Amino acid sequence: MSTMKRILIVGNWKMNLTVHEASLLVKRLHDKIQVHRDIEVVLAPSMLALQPVSQEIDKRKFKLAAQDAFYKDEGAFTGEVSFTMLRGLVDYAIVGHSERRIYFHETLEVVRDKVKAAVRNDITPILCVGETSREKAAGETSRVIHDQVTTALSDLTPEEVEKVVIAYEPVWAISTFGGELAKPDAVKKTMDQIRNLVKELYGAETAEALRVIYGGSVDDHTAGGYLAIEGVDGLLPGSASLNYHKFAGIIDSAYRQLHKKDKQDG
Ligand code: 13P
Repeated sequence: MSTMKRILIVGNWKMNLTVHEASLLVKRLHDKIQVHRDIEVVLAPSMLALQPVSQEIDKRKFKLAAQDAFYKDEGAFTGEVSFTMLRGLVDYAIVGHSERRIYFHETLEVVRDKVKAAVRNDITPILCVGETSREKAAGETSRVIHDQVTTALSDLTPEEVEKVVIAYEPVWAISTFGGELAKPDAVKKTMDQIRNLVKELYGAETAEALRVIYGGSVDDHTAGGYLAIEGVDGLLPGSASLNYHKFAGIIDSAYRQLHKKDKQDG
């Protein structure tokens, strides 16, 4: 964990839950989760559930994220929703999730334009990066991360990069693509690479301010181990965020991590 930053926990609900089911989950989460000034909890429901959920949440407890949006602000793009339309409704937007890169063929440049569009509309992008199992086996992790990070941030100023969240999600660790448990030292190595890259490109201050979180089959049992890694500023669970016991358990791990840190700092 980096010092002086709030722990960021983002629940990516993916294409799950009807509007009614989303409301029920929000109710349960409200009952189970306490506000903590050093933990920021963000929910990413489907596009359809965002508006109703925004009216049901206690905004001191939860913030909202979109799971994606289109990079043009408006126009003849049937079926798309723009970041401009989401402005004021969400604080965050997940951009470049591996499911979008793989299933919907989002290129490095599309992800770059979405990151830029989010920032242009005052929405904090949660930029997802990560290598596939084939790339990992071929020893290409570092090149893949380099290309994804540098391209995605290339249209931003250092001040804008500071506000970005980067989520490292090794594709092979996401339950959709295998759900293999990533070892903390491997996670740390790539997280360090991401921060060093940002440092080289945008300076030390920007790299320090930028939040880097970990995603990929995190649940209430594994959350503590990942949060204990130096430099990890939070987590992006998928399936575990659909289960209020597990999601609340992940937030409990964040509490424990803060408590441990307080003790260490005396
Ligand atoms: P799972 O936690 O279901 O593996 O998904 C992780 C993820 O893709 C979060 O964005």
